[in-house]
Amino acid sequence: MADNLRAVMTGLDPAYAKRLADAFNVYLANLHVTLIKIHNFHWNVVGVDFFDFHRELDTVYEEVNKEIDRVAERIKMLGFYPLGSMQDFVRNATLQEAPSMPYDTFTIAYLVANDFAATARYLREVDEFVRETTDEFSIDLIANALAFLEKYVWFFTAYLEKMNYPQVPKQ
Ligand SMILES: [Fe+2]
Repeated sequence: MADNLRAVMTGLDPAYAKRLADAFNVYLANLHVTLIKIHNFHWNVVGVDFFDFHRELDTVYEEVNKEIDRVAERIKMLGFYPLGSMQDFVRNATLQEAPSMPYDTFTIAYLVANDFAATARYLREVDEFVRETTDEFSIDLIANALAFLEKYVWFFTAYLEKMNYPQVPKQ
């Protein structure tokens, strides 16, 4: 569309709205890859903590699912289309998918912490240009997203502590 009516009406710079919608679509793609991966791990977890991980991953799945809707709806408010196909999600995500196979709980904790941390680092880059605006909605969305992502980085790295597992890369 020639004019982004929603951005203009709410006082957002249309070029900024486009830049942010594109950035949020990458976040949305990462969330979808995460969603599928969490289901994969929920089904294929093996080992002593099977029951804990099977249950906990269900909780994580629900939270990721709610976050997906928040981000997609923000993209609509900005005047753009959220990505809507599996192909687009895989193509645009910065995260890799995982094959269906047995996973021990340490590997799952490591992979989940890594992915959540990578997405948090990505959102910090987005945050840099969002904070130069008065787009309080998106500033708040990113702050809440980081709270959610960093909580799970803590949970899953705490599980790995003193386990001699490779460290999650630092920022
Ligand atoms: Fe289930």
